[in-house]
Amino acid sequence: MQLKILVGTVTGNAMSVAQAIELACTDLMADIAVVPMDGLDIGVFTPDALFLVCTSTTGAGDVPDNAQALYASLLGEPRYLGGVRYGVLALGDAVAHAATFAEGGLKFDAALQDLGARRIGEVFTHDACGEVDAETAGVDWCRGWLAEALATPPGAPA
Ligand SMILES: Cc1cc2nc3c(=O)[nH]c(=O)nc-3n(C[C@H](O)[C@H](O)[C@H](O)COP(=O)(O)O)c2cc1C
Repeated sequence: MQLKILVGTVTGNAMSVAQAIELACTDLMADIAVVPMDGLDIGVFTPDALFLVCTSTTGAGDVPDNAQALYASLLGEPRYLGGVRYGVLALGDAVAHAATFAEGGLKFDAALQDLGARRIGEVFTHDACGEVDAETAGVDWCRGWLAEALATPPGAPA
C-alpha cells in the first residue's frame, strides 16, 4: 500500500512537514508519495492507498489556494468514499488565529467524513507558536498514526 501525503500550503511549511515524514517513515511504509494538492480533484481518493491530508490554514480559516480546487471538488462533486482511509495533519497558529485555528485541515476532515471516508486516529494539529517545530511534531505523530493504520486493515470494523 502507498501512503499519499496530499499537501496544501501557502509558504511551504506543510510541504516541509510532508517531506520530513517521507524521509523519516520509510521503515514503517516503504512507498510514500508527497503530492501537492494543485490540480487534484475528488478522484485522487482511491481505496487502494492510505491518505494523509497535510495542510495549513490561511485567510480566516480558509484552505490554501493550492488546496481550493480539491476542497471544492469534495463539496461540489460528492461521491461515496466508503473505502477510503485517511488522517489529517493541520498546521495553524493558535495565538494569532485562535478563532480559526487549524480550520483548513478541519474543513478537509469534515468534508471527508461527510462522504463516508474513514479517518484513522484523531486530527493532529500543530501550533506555529508552540515549542516543538512542525517537522519534529509531525514526524512523531505520524509514526504513531501509521502504526495505527497498519494495525487496522482496510475493511476492518472501526
Ligand atoms: C495571512 C495568514 C492567515 C492565516 N490564517 C490562519 C488561520 O485562520 N488559522 C490558523 O490556524 N492559522 C492561520 N495562519 C497560520 C498558518 O497556517 C501557519 O503559519 C502555517 O504554518 C503556514 O503553513 P504553510 O507555509 O504550509 O502555508 C495564517 C497565516 C497567514 C500568513
